[in-house]
Amino acid sequence: MAKKVILTGDRPTGKLHVGHYIGSLKNRVMLQNSGEYQPYIMIADTQALTDNARDPEKIRNSLIQVALDYLAVGIDPEKSTIFVQSQISALFELTAYYMDLVTVSRLERNPTVKAEIKQKNFNDSIPVGFLNYPVSQAADITAFKATLVPVGDDQEPMLEQAREIVRTFNRVYDCNVLVEPEGYFPEKGQGRLPGLDGNAKMSKSLGNAIYLSDDSETVQKKVMSMYTDPNHIHVEDPGKVEGNTVFTYLDIFDPDKNKVAQLKEDYQKGGLGDVKIKRYLNEVLENELAPIRQRRAEYEQKQDEVYEMLIEGSEKANQVANQTLSEVRDAIGLNYFKR
Ligand code: TRP
Repeated sequence: MAKKVILTGDRPTGKLHVGHYIGSLKNRVMLQNSGEYQPYIMIADTQALTDNARDPEKIRNSLIQVALDYLAVGIDPEKSTIFVQSQISALFELTAYYMDLVTVSRLERNPTVKAEIKQKNFNDSIPVGFLNYPVSQAADITAFKATLVPVGDDQEPMLEQAREIVRTFNRVYDCNVLVEPEGYFPEKGQGRLPGLDGNAKMSKSLGNAIYLSDDSETVQKKVMSMYTDPNHIHVEDPGKVEGNTVFTYLDIFDPDKNKVAQLKEDYQKGGLGDVKIKRYLNEVLENELAPIRQRRAEYEQKQDEVYEMLIEGSEKANQVANQTLSEVRDAIGLNYFKR
């Protein structure tokens, strides 16, 4: 039986952080190594341009950073095809056909896009391409006939939109060309890493992130600055565990659940200081991040090979996407000159 296809990706607007790792990268590596899937991993530079069109240099520089982050966490080009969105022209033609099947008001209702428009202060100046990115994302997914899309929780509306497009397309053109995708989300409570400051979201723009490329001193400094319980002033005071970022991180990163339970108990009783729990969290993080950092440094030394890998991945992705595009054109009836 043919392997199930996975498609996912990230916008290259900077280096990836541990929030990306927990929200999606870790799952991808696990799925890749299960051997049951054929994964395509896309660096979504064109999507990144939808709100950075006037700063292409940022996207250009981030491309290699994201590629290095992928390799560092264990995405293996022997098992996964890593490619660059802008190099796959079929995606843009597919987007054009899908745009005719989606209304503006449907796009305006997308809750993730809505939240982003607010956050980016677009007001009345929303780029058309930005509003349209869920449609372009449907093209990314369907070009590979992906059935599984491992992403963070905020991407569910994109999957819903993609499924609608698939159903509409197959119905309108009376065919079976496109395939409906499903999301693959992190386990409940494991998917969203808060920022160092306790903000619900870790993000570069909020300046509250730990990057996969941070060295050990930087990580330690960031951990020591983390938000805990503002009312836990003296070591002997009872402390709060809920909403305490250090414990949220321990819940997610520490494999030793008994130890975490014990620490929580001690902290709530009083007598356990913030510095102690932060030092412990730093150790736990180091265990996970040190091998990633090490691998990243190795690939940094051979960037030519990394670019070569992206070229090969993009060639392979082009073949697959062109095949789907040809089926889509046939289904619509745009095959006048086909021999
Ligand atoms: N929207 C995703 C993000 O912001 C990136 C992305 C683009 C993507 N195309 C995709 C994810 C297709 C999954 C499938 O990170």
